[in-house]
Amino acid sequence: MRKGDTVRRRIGPTNWRKLALPVLALSFLLAGCSNSSLPQDALDPQGPFAQKSHDLAMPVFAIAGVVFVLVEGLIVYSVLKFRRRADDESPVQVHGNVRAELGWTIAPAVVLVGVGIFTVGTIVDLDRVPKGAEVVKVNVTGHQWWWEYEYPDEHVVTANELHIPTGTDIAITLRSKDVIHSFWPPKLAGKIDVIPNRENHMVINADNAGIYYGQCAEFCGISHANMRLRVVAHKPADFQRWVKANAAPPRDPAEDDPDATAGQALFRSKGCASCHAVAGFAAGAVGPDLTHLQQRKVFAGAVFDLNEKNLRRWLRNPPEEKPGSIMPNLNLTEEEITSLIAYLDTLK
Ligand code: CUA
Repeated sequence: MRKGDTVRRRIGPTNWRKLALPVLALSFLLAGCSNSSLPQDALDPQGPFAQKSHDLAMPVFAIAGVVFVLVEGLIVYSVLKFRRRADDESPVQVHGNVRAELGWTIAPAVVLVGVGIFTVGTIVDLDRVPKGAEVVKVNVTGHQWWWEYEYPDEHVVTANELHIPTGTDIAITLRSKDVIHSFWPPKLAGKIDVIPNRENHMVINADNAGIYYGQCAEFCGISHANMRLRVVAHKPADFQRWVKANAAPPRDPAEDDPDATAGQALFRSKGCASCHAVAGFAAGAVGPDLTHLQQRKVFAGAVFDLNEKNLRRWLRNPPEEKPGSIMPNLNLTEEEITSLIAYLDTLK
């Protein structure tokens, strides 16, 4: 019997053909991962800070790939070459090989030290808090289950949507009101944990205007998956316009709008005002600040588009729409909901 005959018999041509289909299917599946139009693609950096992580990750991945192929190749080669050929055969017993052992200790150590130097360099680089008049500061607070955004210099407070100017360093301070969350806009930055009684920092900078989607990336309770986020990047002039609209004092519902006026009264009598803030009218601090609600496109952890239909569904029974929602079912009638929505419509 010639060497290798057994192998050919075990993985014969028929078996290879059986393997072809799963291999083909897997390659199509993996090709799907490379689509850079995916909204939360961590391999599609859209700003200088995301690019820095990317520039570290790609060479490390390449090195890991080479090591993988090398090690797996040697394993497969050894398994085939040194397999047991007869039942009474025993392998040659080897007791130590100084050269081989030195080789597979020193080579990985050198690779790891190299990777470590670049990793620490990138960490230090990303950890630097940018300074300067043009830097926009944002205090981000994680709540179960939504994000609060406060712009201390612009005197703006909003929720769910983080608005930023393009080409500008955004110095983010991360805090939590309750449990550990993780702030993750994959195209703009890596994940940073948001920990109670601790401040963490992150810098983002978006090259182009647009919406960048993200997600809380640390399990934080029953609606963790409903704790989405979006970063809306504007051209600087548009961002100034957004700031102006969001820093303006709120309008009172027009007196000739009886629905909105009734809604405003309900906002207080039904207890909304004790959880939500509306500048000059209510000072609740449990839920999102609603002063300029209509400046946003989404609500409730960025899960719902802000429109009449969704608001109506939400007000009927919030915990049904977002499990665990701190906002309870207020048992509102359809007329009350109509009035409340008319009032919310005035919060521009
Ligand atoms: Cu917040 Cu998961």
